[in-house]
Amino acid sequence: MAEPLLATTGLTRNFGALAAVAEVSLAVAAGAVHAVIGPNGAGKTTLINLLSGDLAPTAGRVSFRGQDITALPPHRISRLGIGRSYQKTNVFAELTALENCMLAAQSRRGHSFQFVRSAAREAAIQGRAEAALMAAGLGSRAPMPATALSHGEQRQLEIAMILATEPALLLLDEPMAGMGAEESARLVALIRALAPLRTVVLIEHDMDAVFAVADRITVMVGGRVLETGTPEAIRASPAVQTAYLGEGDDGG
Ligand SMILES: Nc1ncnc2c1ncn2[C@@H]1O[C@H](COP(=O)(O)OP(=O)(O)O)[C@@H](O)[C@H]1O
Ligand SMILES: [Mg+2]
Repeated sequence: MAEPLLATTGLTRNFGALAAVAEVSLAVAAGAVHAVIGPNGAGKTTLINLLSGDLAPTAGRVSFRGQDITALPPHRISRLGIGRSYQKTNVFAELTALENCMLAAQSRRGHSFQFVRSAAREAAIQGRAEAALMAAGLGSRAPMPATALSHGEQRQLEIAMILATEPALLLLDEPMAGMGAEESARLVALIRALAPLRTVVLIEHDMDAVFAVADRITVMVGGRVLETGTPEAIRASPAVQTAYLGEGDDGG
């Protein structure tokens, strides 16, 4: 592959005696939807936390666009163009969809707009927020309070809020959690449409969704990478079937 947008080498995070993430080397191609799957406790969320800077690694490196970003604080990583979602929802219920996105758009830019007239700055932020809502399929929901949105729409709003920060790479931790089939299908289409302009690292339990949307799949078990490959290769892999897919369909 050409130089990956994001790469890790030997990435490790211990919690006491437990290696939650152990020597993970990962290459995420620009423009790809790269899914990370694995049973509960495999280390998927910890991996995302290492990539977003929310956790510092015990060992190993992370590079983004060829730049070493290991252990940079989250706001620096965000400003470099990596946006993330959290497993628990981050939406302000009383604010409108547009206001939530405007807050998100503001948060990445930090002080970079301080010399610009405030009205122009406000307009730029609103423009980014509106574009993000459109891209997330929520254009018509802009004036609605977040509480008035359906569960599926609230998850779309979380993605819109990430898009408002204009990231090159989105880290999505179980965006389909708690969704029905129809809502999941809508989110699959939305994530598919983000690439190749944006790159996505997707953690997801819903195997139908993963196999529908991913260009590459990395399987983690016990903190380690078991295998990385195309969806076809992962589906056919004896090692993956034995260690994971064969053990029932709960997705872990
Ligand atoms: N802050 C923490 N302190 C101690 N152990 C943790 C912490 N976060 C995660 N773990 C442990 O690390 C392992 C991996 O967890 P996690 O990354 O959440 O897995 P996954 O997202 O794949 O379900 C689990 O055994 C979990 O209990
Ligand atoms: Mg998790």
